[in-house]
Amino acid sequence: MTGHFPNTRLRRTRSTGWSRTLHRETLLTSADLIWPLFVTAGKGVEEPIATLPGVSRWSVDGIVARAKEAAALGIPVVALFPNTPRELRSDDGAEAHNPDNLMCQAIRAIKDACGDSIGVLTDVALDPYTSHGQDGLVNDAGYVVNDETVATLVDQAVNQANAGADIIAPSDMMDGRIGAIRMALEMNGHHNVQIMSYAAKYASAFYGPFRDAVGSSGLLKGDKKAYQMDPANADEAMREVALDIAEGADSVMVKPGLAYLDIIYRVKQRFDVPVFAYQVSGEYAMIEAAHAAGIGDRDALALEKLIAFKRAGCSGILTYHAAHVARLLNG
Ligand code: PBG
Repeated sequence: MTGHFPNTRLRRTRSTGWSRTLHRETLLTSADLIWPLFVTAGKGVEEPIATLPGVSRWSVDGIVARAKEAAALGIPVVALFPNTPRELRSDDGAEAHNPDNLMCQAIRAIKDACGDSIGVLTDVALDPYTSHGQDGLVNDAGYVVNDETVATLVDQAVNQANAGADIIAPSDMMDGRIGAIRMALEMNGHHNVQIMSYAAKYASAFYGPFRDAVGSSGLLKGDKKAYQMDPANADEAMREVALDIAEGADSVMVKPGLAYLDIIYRVKQRFDVPVFAYQVSGEYAMIEAAHAAGIGDRDALALEKLIAFKRAGCSGILTYHAAHVARLLNG
């Protein structure tokens, strides 16, 4: 209900800093952030990623240091992605099932060093392990086959849970994988291992730098449109989310983030589940590029975009700016 001018002047409550603080509707804190980290082989290795300025791949020891840093900053979760050595990539991505692969090494090392002071979220999809860069198994016609892929994703998820993963995050967009993974986790005693499903994941042009980071960009031929969603569709996203919840997802993700705020909003309004946004690599890189070009201030751009996700209804955001923004927010 809004009155008439001058009885009502909406600028009154905006006129001072304390008043703006008092009337702020949405809060962003370090507890809202999930920090994606890229794991690489070796010891004492840091490899800066050219297309993601300020982001590096770290060997397992460096990943542990980042996880400790995150916990100290009040960031509740880190998300892990491996840059699998080229010689370990294959057509079927079998390295995903190796209990001593980079991912499992990193999970175990973080859990040994940090215990429950931080949660570890792990990506389930085959693209960091395949020689063709697709998220699943490819048949002779070049099609990513659904049910066979789901069977291997189940093994991948259990492998990660056995290593100590706290949240399994399938990013592959196969049909039926959430139910299959949930059942396997239950059968293997991982009752409290959560699933955060990439429920509405779009075939997006914003993933480029990520594919550099995990080393799949040079390998990927074609696109992922036969499994990732068409950016034109929103009703279909509601169906994806409904299915994943019914199959046992504890929380759902919308990805990419900023171009899909309407999807986040609709999911939050319609389903009573925690919703997360992935501010993806291309979105991050655009902020960095704008900053470098003198078009905008990094900190202000990053904070404005992140508060938009909270305003739209997100419980949290995966962002490469997590540590930087946590430092800003913590003063
Ligand atoms: C693939 C995956 C992608 C991202 C997370 N998992 C890229 C893709 O689908 O090709 C993108 C994340 C980002 O761009 O930051 N399973």
